[in-house]
Amino acid sequence: MKVCIVGASGKLGQYMVRHALDRGHEVVGVCREKSVNKLDEFRDRVAIVSGATDDRAVIQKATAGCDGVLTVLVPWGVHGYSSGTAQAVLDLAEPGARLVFSCGWHITRDGQDRYSKSFLWTVGAASRIARLLRLVDIDDQVEACRRIFASQTRWTVVRGSDLEEGESEGLPSWSRHVGDPVLASNKTRRIDFALFMVAALENDDLVQEAPAIVSRRSPSALAHSAAATSSDHR
Ligand SMILES: NC(=O)c1ccc[n+]([C@@H]2O[C@H](COP(=O)([O-])OP(=O)(O)OC[C@H]3O[C@@H](n4cnc5c(N)ncnc54)[C@H](OP(=O)(O)O)[C@@H]3O)[C@@H](O)[C@H]2O)c1
Repeated sequence: MKVCIVGASGKLGQYMVRHALDRGHEVVGVCREKSVNKLDEFRDRVAIVSGATDDRAVIQKATAGCDGVLTVLVPWGVHGYSSGTAQAVLDLAEPGARLVFSCGWHITRDGQDRYSKSFLWTVGAASRIARLLRLVDIDDQVEACRRIFASQTRWTVVRGSDLEEGESEGLPSWSRHVGDPVLASNKTRRIDFALFMVAALENDDLVQEAPAIVSRRSPSALAHSAAATSSDHR
C-alpha cells in the first residue's frame, strides 16, 4: 500500500512512519520545512513533501497515488489549521482512499459519550487558556471532525485517551463511546495509538467509525476481556 502520513515529524507521526514501514508500506511524509530533519533516520526509505499541512498544494502533491492517508489533527494557532488540514485531505486524497485521522476523546461523533466532570473541566480550562494565548483552538479540531463525520469518504477518526511513552503493549482495545467501562483506565501508549492508526488502514470494519481507544493491557481493558471470556463460558 502507498501511504501518506500528514504530520509525520511529530511524536505520533514518527511512530506511524515506523509502523507503516514495518508493514511494508511505501511512505510519503508531510511535515513543516523546519521539521524535515526530525525524519533523518528514515531519509532513505520515506519520500518527504515539506510544507504546512493545511496547504492544499502540499496535500495534493503528497497524497497523489496513495491508497491511504494518516493525518495527525492538531489544533495549532487560531487560523483554522486543523479544519484546513482535514478539508484538504477530504477534498484532494485519491477517490476511495482510506483516510484515518487522529484526535482525542473530547471529540464526540453522536453526542452519546459520557465524560467525567474532571475530564470536562480539564478540557474546558485548557481550551480557554490556549485560545486566550492564541496558541491552540480546540474548537477548530471539533470543526475538522464535524466535516470528516459529514463526508462520504472512507474515513476513520481515532480518538486517543491520555498518552504515555513506553514499549508497545499491542493493538489497543476500542469502544464507540467514552464512558464505556472498557475505556475507564484512560491510558494508551503513544506507540500503540500509532499502531492502531496504521492497522486501521486495512480494517474496513472501522470505515466511518470514531473508535475511542485504550491500552489493551490497562486494568479496564483486562477486566472487560475477562468478563467477556467468563460470559462466553456460561
Ligand atoms: N498529547 C496527548 O496527551 C493526546 C491525548 C489524546 C489524543 N491526542 C492526539 O494525538 C495526536 C498527536 O498529538 P501529540 O500531542 O502526540 O503531538 P505530536 O505527535 O507531537 O504532534 C504534534 C504535531 O503538531 C505539529 N506542530 C507543532 N507545533 C506546530 C505549529 N506551531 N504549527 C503547526 N504545526 C505544529 C508538529 O509538527 P512539527 O514536527 O513540525 O513540530 C506535529 O506534527 C493529536 O491528534 C492529538 O489530538 C493527544
